Amino acid sequence: MSARDETIVHLLPPGVEGPAVLRDGTPIYVRAARPEDLRAVAAFATGLSADALALRFFTAARPDAVAREALVEAAVGERLSLLALREGAPESEVVGQGEYVRTAPHRPSAEVAFLVAERYRHRGLATVLLHRLARAARLFGIREFEADVLPENGEMLDVFRRAGFPEQAEAGPGSTHVRFSIVDEPAPIGPA
Ligand SMILES: CC(C)(COP(=O)(O)OP(=O)(O)OC[C@H]1O[C@@H](n2cnc3c(N)ncnc32)[C@H](O)[C@@H]1OP(=O)(O)O)[C@@H](O)C(=O)NCCC(=O)NCCS
Repeated sequence: MSARDETIVHLLPPGVEGPAVLRDGTPIYVRAARPEDLRAVAAFATGLSADALALRFFTAARPDAVAREALVEAAVGERLSLLALREGAPESEVVGQGEYVRTAPHRPSAEVAFLVAERYRHRGLATVLLHRLARAARLFGIREFEADVLPENGEMLDVFRRAGFPEQAEAGPGSTHVRFSIVDEPAPIGPA
């Protein structure tokens, strides 16, 4: 375990790292990404479609862009990358990744972004990652999450709309800017 990993373990509040059960009962494990996850993150990225990468990076991106983003080393108050791992896999198998990046030093807001393996979608995984990122970010004085989402990305917009935070979306020229307060734990999720 590197010095940074030990720091993360001590700094992250309870309920950020640990097991979770998806809507269909699938168990996963969530933890902060570590440099030694490079191979597992690369395998996850290679399995993503070109469309998924374009929705995430807003441009045709190569799979190695995922590891470059997901494994940046930084203070957890500035950025945090969480991995969702398949439970019971003999080696780490990444099935989702979510991150926040503070928008500017000392600003109480951060940008969030997510990627979920195709076969793990529609089970609430992005929502689990969003809730856990919010729990961590709150500890470091981040009060608001933001995201730019392509207008055709109804699934991501749905996740934000239904995550239980007081979300506001503003349609811009090329993307929809979503922002919401994370000060309070999210309200229980209502019907679709
Ligand atoms: C967008 C993306 C991250 C969503 O991941 P996901 O794990 O499938 O998201 P969730 O399962 O949490 O939410 C998606 C769906 O579940 C619904 N949902 C979420 N929580 C729910 C709950 N508790 N009960 C019922 N439905 C719920 C959402 O409304 C949405 O509805 P749908 O499945 O009927 O379409 C994934 O599709 C992806 O990786 N896309 C490509 C990359 C991308 O677009 N990244 C975003 C860049 S900002």
